[in-house]
Amino acid sequence: MAEQDISSAIAVAGHPIHAMLVHFPIAFVVATLGVDILYWWTADPFWVQVGLWSAGAAFILGVLASLAGTAELLAVPGIRVRVASWNHAIAAMVMLAITGANAGLRIYGTEDILPNGLMLSALSTMAVAFAGWHGGKLVFDHGVGLIISSRQ
Ligand code: HEM
Repeated sequence: MAEQDISSAIAVAGHPIHAMLVHFPIAFVVATLGVDILYWWTADPFWVQVGLWSAGAAFILGVLASLAGTAELLAVPGIRVRVASWNHAIAAMVMLAITGANAGLRIYGTEDILPNGLMLSALSTMAVAFAGWHGGKLVFDHGVGLIISSRQ
């Protein structure tokens, strides 16, 4: 397993596209929790609109990041054989399902945001932290997608 290539196949000049995209869903998932807490605190309907856009952006950008991650998983044998890659993929899918439910709930009405939307935002924040941690392990523990330069 260790001899198999683990460099990125879905990349720009060797830099993994997945790693470029993941920051956006992570930021929007956490922002949605912040927005829901502000709505709970202030009861200002402005935060309902912000929450709709931020939960929607978290889901759509999460789908895009997952497409790049899945392509990487399927295309690179050295990534595909690692159990850690599948742990990360499953954690990411759980996160995406919760984030999709959170966005859907806001499209179909605003009355469920407190408490259901807030709880989904808290759950998806925990799930994105877990998925992101396992993604980080792929890079920092397993060396997936790294380019080690011999230059000074
Ligand atoms: C099925 C879906 C996914 C698969 C198969 C997948 C796969 C991978 C792979 C192979 C890597 C190693 C870097 C690379 O080669 O690109 C990685 C890194 C990572 N992934 Fe995912 N991923 C998925 C979804 C997600 C999602 C939705 C998130 C977060 C929103 C995420 C967060 C991360 C993070 C934070 C890293 C480390 C990147 C870095 O530190 O630069 N992944 N993922």
